Amino acid sequence: MEYEILKCNVRDGIACLTISRPQALNALNQRFFIEMNHWLDQMPAQKGIRALILTGDGKAFVAGADIAQMKDMSPKQAQDFSRVGQETFARLEDLEMPVIAAVNGYALGGGCELAMACDIRLASTFAKFGQPEVNLGLIPGFAGTQRLPRLVGTGNALVLLLSGETIAAEEALRVGLVQKVVAPEQLMPESQALAAKICSKGPRAVRLVKRLVRAGWHADFGHGCEREREEFSTLFGNEGTEGMTAFLEKRPPKW
Ligand code: CAA
Repeated sequence: MEYEILKCNVRDGIACLTISRPQALNALNQRFFIEMNHWLDQMPAQKGIRALILTGDGKAFVAGADIAQMKDMSPKQAQDFSRVGQETFARLEDLEMPVIAAVNGYALGGGCELAMACDIRLASTFAKFGQPEVNLGLIPGFAGTQRLPRLVGTGNALVLLLSGETIAAEEALRVGLVQKVVAPEQLMPESQALAAKICSKGPRAVRLVKRLVRAGWHADFGHGCEREREEFSTLFGNEGTEGMTAFLEKRPPKW
């Protein structure tokens, strides 16, 4: 499939996926979801990829769902659009590999929701975050009402969701919506370096950490601990044993 919006390049096992529709500040339209799902469909075939960085082209990460396309939707079409968005972001979240959002600019509405479906968010000092749907008489449709409170707590989430106000990267850092803020020219190098660091660790351990944290995100604490206990034990006798042995022998591990 020829992509009109997505640009992907892969280097050293790290895929960088850029959303490129800068004339509309990378607003998410139906075409984006077709391309994104196609890309997700063919991911398992690309066995070499161990981490993903998602970013936007130009001055926005993503300025939201495409308002021009949404304006004339019937309630039924709006529900379908919301479902497609929710399911696509869930697929992204469910990828086995860690996903880093490199938030270069505006991450508003559906753009903030997309960043929240990634595992880790790094932001440039140019980045701005918000859920401005209420300004349009709307509510988030791509799981923002569910992910935002889980990430920043109910009070912080409600300030953003109810006021529709946009916050700068430093404020996003303060509330825990992003993990680090860097100079714009450092955003991609920092994201690559973090992805490379993760890729240098035990691959099975990395996959399990993500899977368990994600399972815990959706499940209750007791069940999450039970799953953690089971998976912890599966690393003994293989990767974990090699890692511990290498540490004690003062040598790099052979994964
Ligand atoms: N959808 C469609 N087009 C958009 C867009 C969006 N979400 N955001 C920006 N654009 C378009 C603008 O219409 C404009 O197009 P034209 O040049 O053809 O007029 C172009 O991108 C550039 O935008 P601006 O001229 O507005 O740029 P700016 O720098 O003056 O302002 C901005 C930037 C503050 C981000 C402003 O564009 C803005 O407020 N955008 C809308 C943000 C928003 O409300 N997002 C939430 C959408 S609803 C949603 O996402 C629901 C959901 O959860 C499913």
